[in-house]
Amino acid sequence: MKWTDEEIEILKQHYDKASTQELSIMLPNRAINQIRDKAHCLKIKLTKILWSDFMAKILVTGAAGYIGSVLVPLLLDKGYHVKVLDLGLFGLQGLDRVKDLIELEVGDIRRATVDDVHGCDAIINLAAFSNDPIADKWPEANMSINRDGVAALAAVAKAYGVPRFIQASSASVYDGLPENPLVTTEEEEVKPERGYALSKYESERVLFRAGLQCPIVVRKGTVYGWSPRMRYDLIVNTMLMSALTTNQITCFCGGVQYRPLISINDVAKMYVRLLEADSDKVSGEIFNVSFGNHQVLEIAFEIQKTLRNHAQLDIDVVVNNDPRVDRSYQIYDKKLFRRIGFEATESIGMVVRSMYDRICCKCMNQDFDNPLYYNIKWIDTALKIANTIPTTTKMCDIFH
Ligand SMILES: NC(=O)c1ccc[n+]([C@@H]2O[C@H](COP(=O)([O-])OP(=O)(O)OC[C@H]3O[C@@H](n4cnc5c(N)ncnc54)[C@H](O)[C@@H]3O)[C@@H](O)[C@H]2O)c1
Repeated sequence: MKWTDEEIEILKQHYDKASTQELSIMLPNRAINQIRDKAHCLKIKLTKILWSDFMAKILVTGAAGYIGSVLVPLLLDKGYHVKVLDLGLFGLQGLDRVKDLIELEVGDIRRATVDDVHGCDAIINLAAFSNDPIADKWPEANMSINRDGVAALAAVAKAYGVPRFIQASSASVYDGLPENPLVTTEEEEVKPERGYALSKYESERVLFRAGLQCPIVVRKGTVYGWSPRMRYDLIVNTMLMSALTTNQITCFCGGVQYRPLISINDVAKMYVRLLEADSDKVSGEIFNVSFGNHQVLEIAFEIQKTLRNHAQLDIDVVVNNDPRVDRSYQIYDKKLFRRIGFEATESIGMVVRSMYDRICCKCMNQDFDNPLYYNIKWIDTALKIANTIPTTTKMCDIFH
């Protein structure tokens, strides 16, 4: 949004007496970082400036999802104001605990307006169709949300002048590269194969083309751990669910394929670190993020061992040698540490122990057959309902 002469005059008159907080009250249409950047352009130095004034308000899109429901409380704990924009595909209950502490808007990133980013200092875009089965079943809607949605949101961010935009991409963009043991860096030229991976790669490209001041891309490994909006369709969580319901973990395709993995708490901490990092260390960068690469069979044995030691459970690991080829990729994840000193710390065993305690001791999320925990099952169910009950047709518009 263009600065008016009147706004510039206020800034020039008060910059040396008022704090950045006071200036932002005098300039209600401006976020603090916009004031800082404008002052920089006008070559005036804000004297009463506080580092903590920056990054005060964060827009988190897709925040009612699995990762957002853990990230938002952490941002609030750190003192950030949080605004949420989410379509609510899986409900909004993941944010129940914090709903009175946030600005919540139910809406679509593809139709984001300047009002949605008003006053925001940064955007973390988690909104997406977030796995292969949904992307494969609804390829057009997937590309429309995962790529075009990012373009629309980035255009609004650019128009309003929100400088920092962190895009949740995925390590699955490496799915088309030659088989392991290739450990891939961010510099590798990728050739994403499946629809989800391709849409995530496209999201990175549109973000970097949007002309923002500080665009950042994170290619996360598959996430594990407990969230108030639980998912049991992610490899570690699925294996734990299977162990608890059938006393068995099955590894398909021989279990030889590799996956980079990371805990949900580490992911949330990583986003906070990226918000606070100096722009010159992160702007325009892609970061791989994981707690290492793990062979599927190794993950199963780790869960088996953890449940034996922690809960005296006897779980079988079954290897299915079907001839299907599953994707397999490994990432090199040290760039983030080199740039900003961030390193993931929570191992699979550690997280499985705490998930077990929540599920089995505190009786949380034990209704394993609830379709809400499995993205594709939930959307299929919701669409069936929407097709049957005419008042819920909005759902059909999204997945047409
Ligand atoms: N979970 C993982 O293992 C993992 C790994 C790598 C990358 N990612 C990426 O991280 C992000 C978050 O993943 P998650 O596991 O929390 O996903 P999720 O499926 O649990 O949540 C996605 C959220 O986005 C919302 N949403 C979808 N389309 C929207 C739109 N057009 N406008 C507004 N909101 C919309 C949904 O309502 C939902 O609340 C996604 O971008 C995903 O691709 C996830």
